[in-house]
Amino acid sequence: MKLPIAVASVFLTLAASSGASVLTANPQGCIDPTAYDADTDFFPDKFVPDETTDLITITYHNTYKIITNKFSNKSYLLYQCGTEPPENEVKYGWHHVVLPVPHTGGVAITETVQIPPLEILGKRSEITAYIGNPQYVSSPCLNHLMSDDAEEEEMVEIIYYPDDPWNTTLTDEGTADFLSRNPEAIVLTGPLGNVDADRAWGDASTQERTNVATFDWLGMYAALFNLEGTANKIITDTEARYQCLADNAAAVESDIQDEDKPKILWADYFDGIGWSIGECPTWDASYYCEFAQHCGASIISRPEGVGFSESYGTDTLYWYLTDDEFLALGKDAATWIYPSKTFGDVYDQKKDILDQFKSVQNKNVYDTQGGGPLAWYEQRLAEYDVVALDLCTLVGTANPNSSSIHVRKWFRNYFTEPVGTQGTCNVPEDITLAYVPEQAECTSIQSSSGGFPSEGSATAANSSQRTSAAFVSVLAIVAGIVSTVLA
Ligand SMILES: *[C@@H]1O[C@H](CO)[C@@H](O)[C@H](O)[C@H]1NC(C)=O
Ligand SMILES: *[C@@H]1O[C@H](CO)[C@@H](O)[C@H](O)[C@H]1NC(C)=O
Ligand SMILES: *[C@@H]1O[C@H](CO)[C@@H](O)[C@H](O)[C@H]1NC(C)=O
Ligand SMILES: *[C@@H]1O[C@H](CO)[C@@H](O)[C@H](O)[C@H]1NC(C)=O
Repeated sequence: MKLPIAVASVFLTLAASSGASVLTANPQGCIDPTAYDADTDFFPDKFVPDETTDLITITYHNTYKIITNKFSNKSYLLYQCGTEPPENEVKYGWHHVVLPVPHTGGVAITETVQIPPLEILGKRSEITAYIGNPQYVSSPCLNHLMSDDAEEEEMVEIIYYPDDPWNTTLTDEGTADFLSRNPEAIVLTGPLGNVDADRAWGDASTQERTNVATFDWLGMYAALFNLEGTANKIITDTEARYQCLADNAAAVESDIQDEDKPKILWADYFDGIGWSIGECPTWDASYYCEFAQHCGASIISRPEGVGFSESYGTDTLYWYLTDDEFLALGKDAATWIYPSKTFGDVYDQKKDILDQFKSVQNKNVYDTQGGGPLAWYEQRLAEYDVVALDLCTLVGTANPNSSSIHVRKWFRNYFTEPVGTQGTCNVPEDITLAYVPEQAECTSIQSSSGGFPSEGSATAANSSQRTSAAFVSVLAIVAGIVSTVLA
């Protein structure tokens, strides 16, 4: 699936006074370096990580860029195709991978969270292999490309051994075989994967502290393809919509006392273990704490000393409650979010207990299957603004006078709504189209009531007072895996 390397049609203007060539956009192919002088900045579009993005840095140096993944302590050098890689940077082997950009050598992915960024940038066709269980993929077009219906030359290879799925020796051998046939490919590797492996390219987006920062890694993906300009716009627009929702929630709640703010029970059941309850000692303790804070709601937390813990051999303790403890804590909550897909099974097992919950009596229980059974671990990450609008709508802090009525997408009412679907992939036209995530519609309360000048639907984020928070912590990843396995 290697694309021919075309000599780019770069946009070039001549600065009249100096005669120096100036690029106005990052090249979308290889360049002829003799057409430029030595000082040319080949990357006029630059990714500048958000101030809450803790785990990635990028520096630009005319013909190359260096990305550092601070979670895995690995750096990667990308140089403009057509130029020479900088000798002083590459000769000592500091950088785990040295790659010409825009990258055309293919990408093997190992986690579903890596799918939306590539699709948003219109680079689905760069995905050449999926390493892992294909059953967890939601993307309709990627599912098509992994199926027997795909055209031979666009088919995405699956590296997965259903008879022995946890055997890393097998997976490593399969990956090595893939790389022997695709030596220019990179292997996107999650935070818990083997970032030291040959051609491994670490993505630690899920370890970031804030939702904004998790999505910000779109900029890392964009750097691979010289698409920083495209990514910057999407990142900025999404954050502006997200911030608009927080501003509205704050306006709606301005005269409500803290103790009267809406409370959410955020809890799911781990078969054979117990109830896992949301915990928000700080707003950035987890991604859902941030969403709650953003919507002016609070998460009911496990009281100190209640419950029991497991460490699973890590430094972190995972806490669980027994049925009785859970009943005492959660029965009066008006709204229950069950961040998994097993509520039906648990309800069948524990009807006597759960029927005592106000949220169950009032049919106010929501799971995370609104976008499809598994999209919560995939497309949701590209729509954190929509998740926020869902939650603000649920707790009543969205703009009551919004120009359109929001239909919840991610939180599905277990009692009254069907599991969502991801739609279909129209073959062949959708395959190469960029995926456009849904966008939260936000009409600013200040502007709609005439207090502030109206500036479209979302005003720019005020970064100095940004309210954001933690994302998929290891807990959420473990929770996702465990609940998926148990399901
Ligand atoms: C990366 O480096 C930091 C600082 O030296 C260290 O605390 C951290 O444990 C390292 N992480 C890994 C995955 O090696
Ligand atoms: C993994 O698979 C390899 C190759 O089939 C086999 O030799 C090995 O014993 C397996 N490892 C485990 C832990 O089952
Ligand atoms: C919504 O519109 C009503 C009627 O115009 C108005 O009284 C109310 O203040 C508005 N609410 C908000 C939050 O803007
Ligand atoms: C941004 O926040 C700061 C600190 O709260 C405030 O002083 C400033 O006026 C805000 N700016 C805008 C444009 O809202």
